[in-house]
Amino acid sequence: MDATALFKLTYGLFIASTQWEDNRCGCVINTAAQVTDTPCRMSVTMQKRNFTTELVLKKKSLTISVLSLSCPLDVITHFGYQSGRDTDKFASVPFQTDSLGNPYLKDHMVAYMSLKVTDVIDLDTHYLFLCDVVEAENLDSGKPMTYGDYRALKSGAAAPAAPAQAHQPVVKWVCPVCHYVYDGEVPFEELPDDYVCPICKKPKSIFQKITE
Ligand SMILES: Cc1cc2nc3c(=O)[nH]c(=O)nc-3n(C[C@H](O)[C@H](O)[C@H](O)COP(=O)(O)O)c2cc1C
Repeated sequence: MDATALFKLTYGLFIASTQWEDNRCGCVINTAAQVTDTPCRMSVTMQKRNFTTELVLKKKSLTISVLSLSCPLDVITHFGYQSGRDTDKFASVPFQTDSLGNPYLKDHMVAYMSLKVTDVIDLDTHYLFLCDVVEAENLDSGKPMTYGDYRALKSGAAAPAAPAQAHQPVVKWVCPVCHYVYDGEVPFEELPDDYVCPICKKPKSIFQKITE
């Protein structure tokens, strides 16, 4: 199997958020999708280890904020590269609350929807939440950000600016599970053997070398 074929699948980019009792949390996800129209239902797949997932399991509801194409990378870093177990991510970010009491973002978002979880499917490392959409609203007329836009933005931010190098082939090391593109300063080959993907925690050994 050529796992890079799965890179051709397209995804959106979202913040999944919830509040259960005094705990509120949100994290970046790319796995929200509409599954049926009538009734309007969505699926959301979330890693068990995420604090947000733990709270969604208890609350049985969440919001999905849809990132705008113009959303700054630091919003994605804030919600996708740290855990709400260590910090209240909403303490420093303006947010609104939906009718179910869950936070959603307005700034840099084009839409949000409120979901009630109807079924939970255990996928070992993840839970697949099947949900009824109970509210939805457009927030901005801009374009939504896709997962591909995010990857381009991220590698563009890390790429050398020198025009002379623009035509040189670019080598990237990519996690085939979550599509994270390694962009650290240490050459990938020199990373320790116990290096793991910062997003999905898969081992260094499964990373794939891509030349563009
Ligand atoms: C671009 C991107 C996409 C992600 N997609 C998902 C996803 O679909 N499901 C998931 O559970 N985590 C996903 N993550 C990882 C979580 O956002 C990340 O582990 C987060 O720090 C969890 O925070 P929490 O512990 O506060 O919930 C993604 C992260 C990034 C940066």
